[in-house]
Amino acid sequence: MVTHTIDPMTVYLDHAATTPLRREVLDAMMPLLTSDFGNPSSVHGHGRKARAALDEARERLARGLNAQPREVIFTGGGSEAINLALKGVAWAGKGRGNRLITSAVEHHAVLHSMRHLEKFGFEVVVLPVDRYGRLDPEQLDQALNDRTILVSLMLANNEVGTIQPLGELVRRVRAHRGVAIHIDGVQAAPYMAIDVQEMDVDLLSIAAHKFEGPKGVGALYVRHGTILLPQMHGGSQERFRRAGTENVAGAYGMAVAYDLARAEQVEVAPRLAALRDRLRDSLTALPNVELTGHPRKRLPGHLSVIARETDGEALILNLDMAGISASTGSACTTGSTEPSHVLTALGYPEEETRGSLRLTLGRTTTDADIEHALAVVPQTISRLRSATAALVLDPLGEQVGA
Ligand SMILES: Cc1ncc(COP(=O)(O)O)c(C=O)c1O
Repeated sequence: MVTHTIDPMTVYLDHAATTPLRREVLDAMMPLLTSDFGNPSSVHGHGRKARAALDEARERLARGLNAQPREVIFTGGGSEAINLALKGVAWAGKGRGNRLITSAVEHHAVLHSMRHLEKFGFEVVVLPVDRYGRLDPEQLDQALNDRTILVSLMLANNEVGTIQPLGELVRRVRAHRGVAIHIDGVQAAPYMAIDVQEMDVDLLSIAAHKFEGPKGVGALYVRHGTILLPQMHGGSQERFRRAGTENVAGAYGMAVAYDLARAEQVEVAPRLAALRDRLRDSLTALPNVELTGHPRKRLPGHLSVIARETDGEALILNLDMAGISASTGSACTTGSTEPSHVLTALGYPEEETRGSLRLTLGRTTTDADIEHALAVVPQTISRLRSATAALVLDPLGEQVGA
């Protein structure tokens, strides 16, 4: 039993890491966790009820992505969807070729899956990005050859919020026959309309907890006709593509959460962008604070900066004490001593990456939250800097002002 509670006054600005479960979503899931708990594979009434809920979830999610229900595979989160896409397509295409292409700013679920495949003889090309985290279509063109079987790119970056110019990149891939395109849509899903037909992609991963759905639930869209080898063996669930009793309540919650997020995107995105811009202006007005990622082509609620001469970890701890939950980069990189691979790929030297700060807003972020952040964040950066300067300047090496 976890007894620790979060002060309700805390301002949560880490929505890129995860979002709270939405009340309406929890309410929709509840009957499937209690009275309607059946296994969708069972033939009795309980089972049929669960099957109906799972079918409805699949239909709703498919409609939201402009896909067919049979093209949706429910998974245990974004990482699992990505692993299934990459490994599934790579192994299925092994006879035709072995080149896999991705970018240097992908999530570790992509990069580590690629590194894993490399050990089995796949050739992995990791493309560089520009200062904003965007790929050059020419470089993608040059990397594509007749041995290429898969290209995996992200729609929006989790650490710096940059949106990839996917239209042009996908066109370049489509000029080569037989290359599957996987898109990591995990961060983009809450804020951008995702239409797999319009985007012309073969596979796309999303995760429910990024749009106020439950954690540990994701989905992989797989275009009909794309061959994919299962990575989880056992029962015949998900049309033999992912064995295991389905997380019916989770899948249902995901579909409800995605419907709500899509319906509200038009209103939520500009409101968050305006709040984010206020915060950005106040932070970048400080000396030596630089926005990371693209200044305009970025997720609406996403703010990431490098505050030089500050230590990101110390900053996060101090913000936490002042009632603000923020992060240095991705949730997965936090706590690691490695510099962020994303900021490194954008060309920032290691000492600068140490001062990274990410503040990410979500649908439930209020004006009052941002007022609090405006009062606290710039002041905390300045205070930490003076404390560090005092330590450095003290001629006797005594701890002053720490
Ligand atoms: C861009 C991106 N891809 C994939 C993932 C992995 O998703 P999950 O945490 O649901 O496994 C994340 C999570 O932060 C992400 O930001």
